[in-house]
Amino acid sequence: MTAVSSNTIFKDNIFAGKVLLCSGGGSGICRGLTEAMVRHGAKAVIISRSKDKLEKAADEMRKATGGVVLCAAADVRKPDQVEAAVKFTIEKLGRIDYLINGAAGNFLAPFQGLSYNAFRTVIEIDLLGTFNLTKAASEHIKASKGSILNISATLYYTGLPYQQHAGSAKAAIDALTKHWAVELGPFGVRVNGIAPGPIADTEGMDRLGALLEVESIPLQRLGSVKDIENATVFLFSDAASLITGVTLVVDGGQWLNPRNPAYPAMVLNPISKI
Ligand code: HXC
Ligand code: NAP
Repeated sequence: MTAVSSNTIFKDNIFAGKVLLCSGGGSGICRGLTEAMVRHGAKAVIISRSKDKLEKAADEMRKATGGVVLCAAADVRKPDQVEAAVKFTIEKLGRIDYLINGAAGNFLAPFQGLSYNAFRTVIEIDLLGTFNLTKAASEHIKASKGSILNISATLYYTGLPYQQHAGSAKAAIDALTKHWAVELGPFGVRVNGIAPGPIADTEGMDRLGALLEVESIPLQRLGSVKDIENATVFLFSDAASLITGVTLVVDGGQWLNPRNPAYPAMVLNPISKI
């Protein structure tokens, strides 16, 4: 069945016959990215820890698009689980063309309130999870001359307080984007990133919104999931066929003018746990 398109500047079926694997695809931004890719003809497998959440999201996306969306419960911190998810994708859909590394964990925590385990947890989900899933899928992506997209963030561009765990994970993910672009380029694989700014109606915004002031965003609005969908479809499309190793910031200019209404009080009088 041909997937139902939505309001888009891209042609309907540019990803027909292609397969997307997306971690974090059961909610928020990456659910939107999955649905956008399916609306443009791709089949998809979404990964996260919660089987119930994935099944509900996949069912809703199938109904909304008429396309193919399957799910594989896996914790990206566990290599055996991501390998099983990749195996499932190949068994069910036969190939992997596109990979989105979107699974992430985040919370606000001052240095004093960030335990050893809390720091390690976020590094493991974001950074090791990105490495694990990409390593598990890489031979299939090479075989299809596909493309990888790492979902990053601008948190570390300015050293945002309470965000050293996520910021350092995203910095390292941006490094992987460059290393993989160089190592996989000769195989015909492009590797890019997107660093969203604050995106309305998402878990990330719910958790971090207190640090942001919408008025300071040069384009005067929060991002929408649709903004990230458009950037994703572009980066996976042939229109971006010479673009690799780039992390595209999609934030309305937010990081260039990051006024933080809670600073410096939040550092001088830290709240131990938020
Ligand atoms: C301080 C915290 C904490 C908090 C958890 N911990 N929440 N420390 N402040 N608010 C600590 C715990 O006490 C524990 O340390 C350690 O972190 C691990 O916690 P667990 O609950 O055992 O971990 P786990 O079950 O693996 O859950 C991971 C999680 C959770 C990250 C803690 O919040 C989660 O599942 N998040 C997924 C969804 C999510 O975060 N989405 C937002 C992505 S937005 P101790 O020492 O007690 O054992 C994003 C960027 C947004 O990434 C940018 C916006 C501009
Ligand atoms: P979200 O809805 O909470 O998405 C995060 C997803 O990751 C969830 O679906 C979660 O599902 C999954 N996940 C978490 N830990 C996992 C694990 N160990 N293994 C497998 N899956 C795991 O948050 P979001 O706000 O849309 O963020 C999506 C992405 O955009 C993240 O990479 C985030 O860093 C980035 N980002 C967001 C914003 C923003 O404004 N929202 C800004 C910049 C960057 P389960 O709980 O089922 O595992």
